[in-house]
Amino acid sequence: MKDRFYITTPIYYVNAAPHIGHAYTTIVADVMARFHHINGEETYFLTGTDEHGDKIVEAAEKAGETPQAYTDRISQLFRELWPKLNIGNNDFIRTTEPRHKKVVQEILQKIKDKDDIYFSEYEGRYCFGCERFITERELVEGKCPDHQVEPTIIKESNYFFRMSKYQDWLIEHIQKNPDFIRPERYKNEVLSFLKEPLEDLCISRPKTRLTWGIDLPFNNQYVTYVWFDALINYLSGLGYPDGELYKKFWPVAQHLIAKDILKPHGIYWPCMLKSAGIEPFQHLNVHGYWKFNEGKMSKSLGNVVKPLDMADLYGLDAFRYFLLREMVFGLDAEFSESALVGRINADLANDIGNLASRSLSMANKFFKGEIAGPGPMRELDQGLKRDALELINQYVTFMEKISFHKALIAVWELINKLNKYIDTTAPWVLAKSDPEYLKTVIYVLLEIQKIISVLVWPFMPAAAEKLQASLGLERIGRDLKIQDIAQWGRFSPIKIMTHAPHLFPRVEQKLTETGDAKKDKISIEAEEKSKITYQEFAKLDLRVGTVKEAEAVPKSKKLIKLKVDIGEERTVLAGILNHYNPQDLIGRQVILVANLEPATLMGIESQGMVLAAEDETGIHALMPDKPTKPGSKVK
Ligand code: MSP
Repeated sequence: MKDRFYITTPIYYVNAAPHIGHAYTTIVADVMARFHHINGEETYFLTGTDEHGDKIVEAAEKAGETPQAYTDRISQLFRELWPKLNIGNNDFIRTTEPRHKKVVQEILQKIKDKDDIYFSEYEGRYCFGCERFITERELVEGKCPDHQVEPTIIKESNYFFRMSKYQDWLIEHIQKNPDFIRPERYKNEVLSFLKEPLEDLCISRPKTRLTWGIDLPFNNQYVTYVWFDALINYLSGLGYPDGELYKKFWPVAQHLIAKDILKPHGIYWPCMLKSAGIEPFQHLNVHGYWKFNEGKMSKSLGNVVKPLDMADLYGLDAFRYFLLREMVFGLDAEFSESALVGRINADLANDIGNLASRSLSMANKFFKGEIAGPGPMRELDQGLKRDALELINQYVTFMEKISFHKALIAVWELINKLNKYIDTTAPWVLAKSDPEYLKTVIYVLLEIQKIISVLVWPFMPAAAEKLQASLGLERIGRDLKIQDIAQWGRFSPIKIMTHAPHLFPRVEQKLTETGDAKKDKISIEAEEKSKITYQEFAKLDLRVGTVKEAEAVPKSKKLIKLKVDIGEERTVLAGILNHYNPQDLIGRQVILVANLEPATLMGIESQGMVLAAEDETGIHALMPDKPTKPGSKVK
């Protein structure tokens, strides 16, 4: 393990407002920085905006503003968004700042002095979207595959960087450092590109064509080409060449990008560094693309997902969790609100949310706020302790290997084991039969949740801190390190808060199909809503029913399939298998919501819902106290 960590995001173009793609990269960088922080490392996290070039001038013209006024305004949108997404960047760099321009000129001069920059006439295919010349073999049906436009042929005299000189060195460096570009598919993509001879890189534009750039120090009739300007932010942001930050953090630099800008980062950037006599970065971490309705998200297609809308609607932590859990780092993923709602209800409200509220309300009820320590530990409890301590190692390995979804899956396996542990040990029964062992069960539940709260903190800082406060931890959030919780029992006795936390409300979704567009329109309501009117209540058709048949649904852990007589026969699924033996239900009466839209679960259509109450002792179906005629209305 290193003791320092430096992470960068791409600096985003200011030709459009931030969308979910920018938010994803920046949230991943934040999760990484937070993880390395609680792993005991000193961290530095840089993001910013890329403000020069043709694209920006064009966008400013469209907006009727000067490039400076326009870039000031859009850059501010990015700067202000990040705190709202709980992003803890240490600095925000703009390429129009003097501190950046100075470093770009210094590096240009250094490379020029080394004779790695020359002047020449060139004719090539230029893609304004990519802001670079592209080669013939990159074209798909004559167009740039990323921007779907035919490149423009440009012939002019310009300055070139002798990139070809570094091709062999780069191939060797990548082969010697297998994690230099990761995941592996992107390393292979770069290596396959490097099989063909590299062309030198055009790094300038004549001022007759573009003025919105950084002057070349050796010819002020030219400005530098956009990538040569932009990539250097990773150094200027640290105060290269003499800054303390540069000395401390450059040796551990890691970049985070999506696959769209792999070539400039995987090829141009290491060659530029090599030529300037600067050590290469440690890792280039490359992720896939978020798609929407199986297509690319783009402003012109009007399908841009706005990150703040999502965070406002569903909760910031839930949104952050979803992005990191849903996308396998390196592969593309489809953004869908219904998948987001599904994860909120299953993973958050149900799994971690229920675990916290059930165990803390039992702890309060049985121990009035203080748990001295475990009673006797049985094999079951020892096993969970081992699993929890083992999870810490697994988690650290996954996080270091940028396998965020795997880290989360591992944490959730333990969360689910703990939920099962509550069901099998039934603390509400132990309260009467075995109070000493009850101490153990509650202690194990809380001690392991301390570990869980720390491991989920990088992803969901606010919810994790709420849980940590409920668990009575004196140090929370940034102040609580992985090493602390790796020592079992370090924070005993456990003093818990008097109320159980409510971490994630359930979210309801109604999916309506609009025309032929398969776009789901979702309206959501938080579970804890305000009062309803009598008319709203009267819409519910509640009926008494007699259970005629009951059997467990094959392969389901929770569901019982009931045939219920409410004057007519209804098939109903009820998630009560952990609490009732199906045979015992036959002949008993239940209350059914009879006008609920049918829903299909495990291939069975459920035509209603059985009403039940839940407390820490389990689920209790509501039943009339005297035999009642099937089909009677409940008022
Ligand atoms: N300005 C350059 C980067 C210079 S870095 C020295 C640039 N800017 S950009 O605004 O186009 O940002 C591209 C980056 O935004 C991607 O690499 C990725 O980090 C993020 N994303 C933009 N759209 C995305 C998706 N649909 N999905 C995932 N991330 C994407 O390129």
